Amino acid sequence: MRGRIPDSFIDELLARVDIVDVIERRVPLKKAGREWTACCPFHNERTPSFYVSPAKQFFHCFGCGAHGSAIKFLMDYERLEFPDAVEELAQSVGLKVPREGGDDRPREDKTDLYALLDATARWYQEQLPRSPEAQDYCAKRGLDADTVARFRLGWAPAGYDGVIRALGGSERRMQLLNEAGMVASNERGSKYDRFRERLMFPILDRRGRVIAFGGRIIEQRGDGSPPLDSRVQDARKGDGPKYLNSPETPLFHKGRELFALWQVKQANSNLARIVVVEGYMDVIALHQAGLPIAVATLGTATTPEHTEVLFRAAPDVVFCFDGDRAGRAAAWKALESALPRLRDGRQAYFLFLPEGEDPDTLVRQEGKEGFEKRLKAATPLSEYFFGELARDVDTASLDGRARLAERARPLIAKLPDGAFRDLMAQELERRSGARAVFEPAPAARPAAQRPVAVQRSLVRSAIALLLAQPGLAEQVERPYAFLRLDKPGVGLLAELIDLARARPGVHAMSLVEHFAERPEYAALQKLLAATVVGEPETQRVEFFDALARMVQQAIDQRRDALTAKSRTGPLDSAEKAELRELLAARVVKAAAEEG
Ligand code: UTP
Ligand code: MN
Repeated sequence: MRGRIPDSFIDELLARVDIVDVIERRVPLKKAGREWTACCPFHNERTPSFYVSPAKQFFHCFGCGAHGSAIKFLMDYERLEFPDAVEELAQSVGLKVPREGGDDRPREDKTDLYALLDATARWYQEQLPRSPEAQDYCAKRGLDADTVARFRLGWAPAGYDGVIRALGGSERRMQLLNEAGMVASNERGSKYDRFRERLMFPILDRRGRVIAFGGRIIEQRGDGSPPLDSRVQDARKGDGPKYLNSPETPLFHKGRELFALWQVKQANSNLARIVVVEGYMDVIALHQAGLPIAVATLGTATTPEHTEVLFRAAPDVVFCFDGDRAGRAAAWKALESALPRLRDGRQAYFLFLPEGEDPDTLVRQEGKEGFEKRLKAATPLSEYFFGELARDVDTASLDGRARLAERARPLIAKLPDGAFRDLMAQELERRSGARAVFEPAPAARPAAQRPVAVQRSLVRSAIALLLAQPGLAEQVERPYAFLRLDKPGVGLLAELIDLARARPGVHAMSLVEHFAERPEYAALQKLLAATVVGEPETQRVEFFDALARMVQQAIDQRRDALTAKSRTGPLDSAEKAELRELLAARVVKAAAEEG
């Protein structure tokens, strides 16, 4: 376990970095009065509704509601976990991230793993020019030198310990090779290279770091075009699958990574469309043909996580599949994983290729223009959706239309609330004649987005006011009387007051950042973004009024509880005294209000 990052460091970090700087480096910003704007990187739009406030040090999109600090921006934009985003920001301003408890070191371990994988990729790259058969193969597949370099293609030579000998020079390094999935071991426990006699495709993460490999065997005989001759099939049996991937490791989760996403991002600063194909060679052929917009999943079906990454990269996603049965099944899976992510502004398309062809063979035959034509003619999700569902139902019959509606409804319900879902519901109604009303589906929203912590407007407004003026915390009397109120968000309010007290002059953004890894985070960010109107003095009065009303509610709550209890059984003497006091307090209050 890595030690915890101390809160004080998060404060310091957010004070040191300028969010405008951080975002500007990734998204070009335009000055607009005191703020900066851009088209939102988190949803598709033509006119900017994404704002960055240097004064408040946060970003906010009025279109899709994305908002947060510089840390949150990095988490969303580069899909980093909280500690990694902190790490990256710290690096950019030359700070070292301290760790509480535990030791400081495990972080370096991960860095070592990256370094080792990078060295391994380099080693494979060096082997490529030394192998005539690998060179031949590249030539046969039409890979040019620039492509080989851009994708860092390499060669894993024959033999059982090339990588081990070159890179596993110490016990620690062997351990890392093992952790990175580069070595396998036999029943007797002796270790050998996982990849042998394979053309190597490094898999890079979103930051261009090598995290895994894919390796393809090269046919010894024949020209590689299907159908393969039986000797090749036999050779394959001996050498394992045609493509071999690294196993899941601490750095590599194949349900999350996309091959060539890094290269796509490098080649396009503003991407309108991204294409998902099935194979490494398909991606590479498209890039080489002048279409650096293709990525591939890594021998798995498209997951919802993939879909989210894809839509963050571009508003239009084209899923490209073989026209055969397997391709159709894979496409439907992709559709299902896309549905919950189809916010307005995002569009999915499906492109089915003629049997026996793949993007690699097609783009070589038809060139960039030919393939682009196919992309333009891809089937929109809605059309594919209804087409597939109506496949074996007879929509001319009442029965058939009912079946269609029955199949479509639960799927349409997966769409996020919005214009697109309305359109799909209308289309279903048109095709089936059945009414299809879809209420917003709160259960479909991820838990983190539900403002669980603060449901009561009173507690919520107290928090919003505190965020508008963290300095108010110093004036709250201790112990906090409002803590007696049993309502969601009360504990959170106390925590915020404590935090703000401990850090005079702290910015609200920093306060909220302390909750980055907690479920309350989303709700707090919303409160932070919701501008509190009014003069500072008015806000102060409202804040203390809210606290006072919370205390009153606590009293009412307790009184009601004791009264209820007294109806079911006798109260003990302490409880009786308490109830008398509570009832008196209420009378006093009522008198004060009247007078
Ligand atoms: P294909 O066999 O269709 O590959 O597998 P391809 O891209 O056309 O390969 P070439 O043109 O023969 O070189 C498509 C993808 O499925 C995964 C790989 O990611 C591959 O790129 N796959 C395939 C495996 O993981 N293992 C296999 O044995 C085969
Ligand atoms: Mn192929």
